[in-house]
Amino acid sequence: MQLQITQSQLLTPHSAIKSVYLVTLQHPQGERLSYQPGDWLTVQAVNPAGLVRQILERLNLSGSEVVRLRKAGEVSVSDALGRHLEITQLNPAILNKMQRQLQLGEWSGRAAMIEYAYGRDILDLLTEFPQMAQMGIEFLDWLAPLAPRYYSIASASDKTVQVLFKAVRYRFNDREKSGVASNFLAGLSCGDLIEAEFKENPMFKLPDDPLTPIVMFGAGTGLAPFLGFMQQRVQQANGGDNLLFFGETEKAHACLCCDQLEEWKAAGRLDLFLAFSRDQADKRYVQHLMQEQKEKLWALWEAGAVIYICGSQQHLAPALEALWQKWFMEELGLDASAALALWQQSRKQKRIQLDVY
Ligand SMILES: Cc1cc2nc3c(=O)[nH]c(=O)nc-3n(C[C@H](O)[C@H](O)[C@H](O)COP(=O)(O)OP(=O)(O)OC[C@H]3O[C@@H](n4cnc5c(N)ncnc54)[C@H](O)[C@@H]3O)c2cc1C
Ligand SMILES: NC(=O)c1ccc[n+]([C@@H]2O[C@H](COP(=O)([O-])OP(=O)(O)OC[C@H]3O[C@@H](n4cnc5c(N)ncnc54)[C@H](OP(=O)(O)O)[C@@H]3O)[C@@H](O)[C@H]2O)c1
Repeated sequence: MQLQITQSQLLTPHSAIKSVYLVTLQHPQGERLSYQPGDWLTVQAVNPAGLVRQILERLNLSGSEVVRLRKAGEVSVSDALGRHLEITQLNPAILNKMQRQLQLGEWSGRAAMIEYAYGRDILDLLTEFPQMAQMGIEFLDWLAPLAPRYYSIASASDKTVQVLFKAVRYRFNDREKSGVASNFLAGLSCGDLIEAEFKENPMFKLPDDPLTPIVMFGAGTGLAPFLGFMQQRVQQANGGDNLLFFGETEKAHACLCCDQLEEWKAAGRLDLFLAFSRDQADKRYVQHLMQEQKEKLWALWEAGAVIYICGSQQHLAPALEALWQKWFMEELGLDASAALALWQQSRKQKRIQLDVY
């Protein structure tokens, strides 16, 4: 499906370390969009032209050579590297194959391959293993198809769809790196068309009954689906309680969509709790706010509230999971394994829903 950009907003200042964007899209002919808050939009991006050029040089190819790809069929090498193959990420499967088939590399196992791959791209691989570059056009067979990237939908309208994303930019091996999809999206202007798809996420859905209270926990771009949830919940004149616990780095530079959040709060539709981790000497995170509001949150849990967690799989989610299980132990007199079982059962029953990445 093609979608057209109608608005692109940089929410963080240009000077900030992180650049977060809110992009709005619509069907080019204005057709109705069919998704629900909590679903994802997948984006098929185009690789950075500069990186494609450098890889062509390293492989000693002009780009006009023709290659046959499993999915795309016959395309030029430039097109293959630009649109069809992963080059900004180094898939550890390539390292595994190199070690098995060519006896290259000295990784001790899968974990070592994952660690080596993190931050490296295909150009790094060709630099560090010139034997691979000598393969020329044959090297393209080693590359994975360019995967669509997932973005949590940050809206609830059948006319437009919004995504909230961080442009992935970092420095590694003395080179400035840019994630393919996030920077492709960040570089688009109004009127541009992209290839995208809606993907259903039945495990992250608002309760059928609008009177059921909801408690949302998010950090960083983990705010995204909650913008959609709130847009949906405020459409009902009288709904259940909506609580949002949101964490970011600094209030001045990274209070994502805070005007909108404050508007919902002022209208009496949202109980808003904000944690800024870098605005004081000690880290202040979402789980600290959660602990401060224990009485209120436990009462809501007992009243049947649905709990949502969105953001980092490595940091936010484990911290919140640990705290909820601690509360199950404290409040219900459970031991650790029973608290874990209750957590798992609550997830199965969709009382607790996670969208983490
Ligand atoms: C279910 C799901 C929902 C998601 N929702 C959102 C969302 O709403 N908003 C959002 O912004 N993202 C979201 N993501 C993440 C998103 O899909 C992409 O992974 C993200 O935008 C990066 O993709 P990219 O193509 O720009 O980067 P890629 O080209 O894929 O590059 C990423 C790679 O860069 C490297 N890298 C990244 N940062 C660093 C660093 N600091 N140091 C060293 N190496 C680094 C790593 O090797 C990493 O694998 C979601 C992911 C999933 C799975
Ligand atoms: N695969 C990718 O390339 C990619 C691309 C984009 C996003 N992501 C992932 O998307 C998620 C969101 O990224 P983001 O940069 O918007 O936000 P983020 O990195 O999750 O940071 C948002 C806030 O969470 C805080 N935080 C750090 N550790 C925490 C913990 N243990 N518990 C609670 N809060 C914690 C951060 O504080 P401090 O930083 O001050 O400690 C910051 O205030 C992360 O999982 C990120 O890794 C991945």
